[in-house]
Amino acid sequence: MAKYPTTTILFQALLLLFLPQSLTVSTTYNISYFGAKPDGTTDSTSSLFRAWSLACASTKPSTIYVPQGQFLLKNLRFEGPCANKAITFHIVGTLVAPSNYNFFKNVGYWLLFEGVDCVSIHGGNLDGRGGSLWACKKSGKTCPNGATILGISNSKNVLISGLTSLNSQMFHIVINGCQNIMLQGLNVLAPGDSPNTDGIHVQLSNGVTILNSSIGTGDDCISIGPGATNLWIENVGCGPGHGISIGSLGKDYEEAGVQNVTVKTARFKDTQNGLRIKTWGRPSKGFVRGVLFQHATMTNVQNPIVIDQNYCPSNKNCVKINNVTYQDIRGTSATEIAVKFNCSRTCPCHEIRLKDVNLSYIYQPARSSCSNAAGSAIGLIEPSSCLY
Ligand SMILES: *[C@@H]1O[C@H](CO)[C@@H](O)[C@H](O)[C@H]1NC(C)=O
Ligand SMILES: *[C@@H]1O[C@H](CO)[C@@H](O)[C@H](O)[C@H]1NC(C)=O
Ligand SMILES: *[C@@H]1O[C@H](CO)[C@@H](O)[C@H](O)[C@H]1NC(C)=O
Ligand SMILES: *[C@@H]1O[C@H](CO)[C@@H](O)[C@H](O)[C@H]1NC(C)=O
Ligand SMILES: *[C@@H]1O[C@H](CO)[C@@H](O)[C@H](O)[C@H]1NC(C)=O
Ligand SMILES: *[C@@H]1O[C@H](CO)[C@@H](O)[C@H](O)[C@H]1NC(C)=O
Repeated sequence: MAKYPTTTILFQALLLLFLPQSLTVSTTYNISYFGAKPDGTTDSTSSLFRAWSLACASTKPSTIYVPQGQFLLKNLRFEGPCANKAITFHIVGTLVAPSNYNFFKNVGYWLLFEGVDCVSIHGGNLDGRGGSLWACKKSGKTCPNGATILGISNSKNVLISGLTSLNSQMFHIVINGCQNIMLQGLNVLAPGDSPNTDGIHVQLSNGVTILNSSIGTGDDCISIGPGATNLWIENVGCGPGHGISIGSLGKDYEEAGVQNVTVKTARFKDTQNGLRIKTWGRPSKGFVRGVLFQHATMTNVQNPIVIDQNYCPSNKNCVKINNVTYQDIRGTSATEIAVKFNCSRTCPCHEIRLKDVNLSYIYQPARSSCSNAAGSAIGLIEPSSCLY
């Protein structure tokens, strides 16, 4: 039996609360009733916005319904607070972004939820149509940054389930400044060579849970930024892409730490990294502590286990890393160095624990490499530990 954190149980309780209400008194706002056309070319932005405005203003639980078909949408902000605490997006069809990337210039997000409480999004596809922007970026021309497909900002109690996010121009999903967010059964897809298409980025947020999802992109599968606390990631498949990464951290001196992160049952296939912690070599108050990486399988991963704490300027504090456990990590490395802990002399990594790690390299025995990394190893450890 999988054990889920209390946030999950809270969510299930929350859903049970939602359900009977939505069955009895929920009002449904079908975007077709507001003129949206499922043809992929008619601009449906105002229809969805109208549906949201009514749902948000309603004192009753409300459902926004997106039927089958393709709906073209420009960038939209869904802003709270709302008059009710049970808004559901039921998406059957596909929301598509404008194909001309110049449209987004500096908006940052295609779809942004700001300051909402108790919103859930079920199903559907979000198509960011990033192809032409990636081509521009790869050609070396000057191009806009592009937009993140879906942002959840300064919000709480948000559930996103069964959603597919495709071909983002930039990051796919960003969770920023939030509490109690659940993402489950997501499919996130972009080609392995698409620039900056991180799957899910979490920062300055407490109690985010990511479950049962599959993420293949051109950048990090999940990236964990400053101020991510009590984060739970379970049963996630990554690849292609750059793996699950805590960091980069330490960009700023005043920076919130990352604390209590669990990554359980993750599968990595043909990724650049598996489980990574990466910090800048700059003076910073940032830190990483209390991380458990448990039950991961690696298939042809270039750096299955890596801490890269760039060397810090002499005698300055930089991002401290301690209490990081790797338990039951197995599979194949695509390079000889399967385990790398490269920490700084001025602030070494502490309490790094290896328990039952078995990583092999096809051509010769795998190796581990340590600089300034202290901790312990128990159980079978292959390649053998170099922690002091
Ligand atoms: C929404 O509207 C579309 C188009 O009129 C219709 O096909 C669909 O059945 C409606 N669905 C709901 C749940 O109202
Ligand atoms: C996640 O997947 C596991 C195993 O496939 C399943 O038992 C569990 O119910 C799923 N959880 C959710 C919240 O969908
Ligand atoms: C760590 O976070 C999990 C949720 O991810 C939570 O269930 C647990 O209570 C937290 N542990 C501590 C010590 O705060
Ligand atoms: C190390 O981190 C784990 C996971 O967050 C936590 O349960 C444990 O209490 C921490 N240990 C110490 C000594 O801080
Ligand atoms: C460790 O990191 C430093 C600073 O980035 C780099 O110069 C060095 O080559 C790295 N060592 C290894 C063994 O990768
Ligand atoms: C470690 O992994 C290798 C290659 O996958 C396998 O042959 C070996 O039996 C494993 N060792 C243990 C003790 O599980």
